[in-house]
Amino acid sequence: MTAAPRGDRIRRALDHLRNDTTEEFDSVVPFGPEQYRDPGIAQRERDLVFGRVPSIVAHATELPKPGDFLTLQMPRNKVIVVRQKDGSVKSFVNLCRHRGALLEEQEKGRCRLFSCGYHRWSYDTDGSLRAITRDNTFGEIDRTRFGLIELPTEERHGLIWMVDDAVDSGAEIDVASWLGPEVDDILAGYRLQDLLAVRSEGFDEPANWKLMQDAFTDNYHIQYAHPNTAGKHVHTNVQVVEDFGRHARMLSPRKKIDRWLEEDPGDRDLGRYVIDGHFLLPNSTLLRQPDDHFELLTFRPHPTDPGRCRMEMRLLVPSLEASGMTKEKWEEVWDKNWKILLAVLHQEDFPLLRAAQTGLVSANAGGMVLGRNEVVNQIFHRELRKLLA
Ligand code: FES
Ligand SMILES: [Fe+2]
Repeated sequence: MTAAPRGDRIRRALDHLRNDTTEEFDSVVPFGPEQYRDPGIAQRERDLVFGRVPSIVAHATELPKPGDFLTLQMPRNKVIVVRQKDGSVKSFVNLCRHRGALLEEQEKGRCRLFSCGYHRWSYDTDGSLRAITRDNTFGEIDRTRFGLIELPTEERHGLIWMVDDAVDSGAEIDVASWLGPEVDDILAGYRLQDLLAVRSEGFDEPANWKLMQDAFTDNYHIQYAHPNTAGKHVHTNVQVVEDFGRHARMLSPRKKIDRWLEEDPGDRDLGRYVIDGHFLLPNSTLLRQPDDHFELLTFRPHPTDPGRCRMEMRLLVPSLEASGMTKEKWEEVWDKNWKILLAVLHQEDFPLLRAAQTGLVSANAGGMVLGRNEVVNQIFHRELRKLLA
């Protein structure tokens, strides 16, 4: 499918609003509760999905300078992501090759080398083993074989992507080919590399990662779960979806667009009346707000427990210099924006999803079903089935 211009997609949204319709998937699709609780399925997702395909771990501005690092728990490995002297980014398993101590304990920071707290071996930021303490007594080893274990990592469109498996075991990364030409072009057009990750926070939640990912692609729940927040501003159950195979783009009209239901908008740009969402397989939603700031939501399975995950939320905005705002105004705008996002998550989405997870472990949970109107969820589950097959 080729990407449609926004004007065409907005006209499609207006038609749906006039006719009380939305886009529809080929069929309803049943699914079972084991998806959210079975340790065997969770293991296959970690290995066959996260161990094979690129997923987003950070925005480039979170690691601006050489030696800047962050640590995170990927589904298969504990990881250090670090900016190199040549400006590229590498990732390593966060574990000392001597006796397996956790190498870097901080969540983020800047360093010249990684130094282990147990017997003080040290590693260069490129992963090579630099020093063995008391090496006159340690004995001979081939130091090139005891560098940090590297994971394939690539920076593209201002985002840092990783495949959660070792380079040594043959794992590779190619974000452009994973995205495909349409989505690669769409992301290139946003110039996310010029934006700033002004806020970034992670939430460890007692819910399966798919339960969470599903809630942030779905516009069917808006008026019911968010009646006094998003439901006031965004239409429910009207999405214009482009299915690019793995990934999808979904446009949601805001309620302010309604004045153009009667009146012909002609060639007018109605971009400020819509939110462009993007589902990036396997585990991210990127929302483009009308003023061209973005929210990036990422959902990562827990390394052992199917009933847990980590969600990360990032707010990507034009820098102070690019914004033309005063410093006070700029800070106030993004602070307020972030607080609203947090309130909706903590008061509305998280309680509902935590409770769903507790219900899904019921012995007789029964079968469930995804509707034709839940197009992006259908695409997500269809693509996951392919990766797991
Ligand atoms: S475990 Fe790291 S130096 Fe011994
Ligand atoms: Fe929601």
